[in-house]
Amino acid sequence: MSDKTTLVLTSGATDLDRAADLLRAGQVVAFPTETVYGLGADARNGEAVAAVYAAKGRPSFNPLIAHVADLEQAQALVEWSDEAERLACAFWPGPLTMVLPLKPGHEVSGLVTAGLDTLAVRVPAHPVAQGLLQRVGGPVAAPSANPSGRISPTTAAHVLSGLDGRIAAVVEAGSSAVGLESTIVGLSGDPVLLRPGGVPREEIERVLGREVPSPEEVSKITAPGQMLSHYAPRARVVLNHQRAEPGGVMLGFGDVDGDLNLSPAGSLTEAASNLFEYLHRLDAMARPIAVAPIPDAGLGAAINDRLQRAAADRDQA
Ligand code: TXA
Ligand code: MG
Repeated sequence: MSDKTTLVLTSGATDLDRAADLLRAGQVVAFPTETVYGLGADARNGEAVAAVYAAKGRPSFNPLIAHVADLEQAQALVEWSDEAERLACAFWPGPLTMVLPLKPGHEVSGLVTAGLDTLAVRVPAHPVAQGLLQRVGGPVAAPSANPSGRISPTTAAHVLSGLDGRIAAVVEAGSSAVGLESTIVGLSGDPVLLRPGGVPREEIERVLGREVPSPEEVSKITAPGQMLSHYAPRARVVLNHQRAEPGGVMLGFGDVDGDLNLSPAGSLTEAASNLFEYLHRLDAMARPIAVAPIPDAGLGAAINDRLQRAAADRDQA
């Protein structure tokens, strides 16, 4: 479906003006954030949002995150609360997404929320994302800029490898520093951890002064679209291995070395930032991927969540 030429834009002011113009005109534009590259569309324009789902080949029941430039823009969209305020003060701009009740009179397309009465909002820290969102002046819906079910992109090259010819433009600005998606906290009732991510759960619990369980832990599912194999590479993935399988490749961590090592020093921050890049590289070798054990604390919980999805049976995609 390569029916258009995808513009590759720089992060200079003129190109950001152009990217913002494209977004306001209802086009789909990929842009860098500190977590992963996002596939942006004007969140108030249903046709533009539909084009995001189409480019990704994503099932339409999976709601999207609305990205805004600042706190004030977020407060215009959702019902604010004391706990939202505390988390925003501590972690915005940054890799935290909050799910809050939609405000009456909001102009967000129902395609963004997939018909829910809550909205996921995030203020990204990346200066290029900031520059773009300030120019657009309204919410930009943006899932990760990869075809549905594939590895999330942390460079413009990753975006193009999956979506070239399917989107209007990509803004290129190096590698995403965090390297995995934002943490999603549901705040429409007691706080729940809807997705582990760039801000460790422990830090959120410290700021709120209480436990933030996952939906599984409160034994009801409130994270629609958390399909198990969402992050699946094409190659088979097995976890907690000490060495590669015969004919396979190895993704190491710490002392457990491999063809690539997420962090020879055993740093979870470094491992997170390398995760998707290394999965992309090993996936290109089209051989089974064995992954070393990763400690489950802090960012390790988010890394293991992504790895478990990568290892899940493809039939569930
Ligand atoms: O780091 C990130 O969050 C990246 C960058 C681009 O900002 N974006 C991202 O978006 O990961 P996406 O669409 O790949 O993931 C959004 C997740 C989905 O798993 C979806 O189920 C959840 O957010 N979500 C969105 N709206 C929700 C809502 N109203 N209630 C519960 N979950 C929601
Ligand atoms: Mg994604």
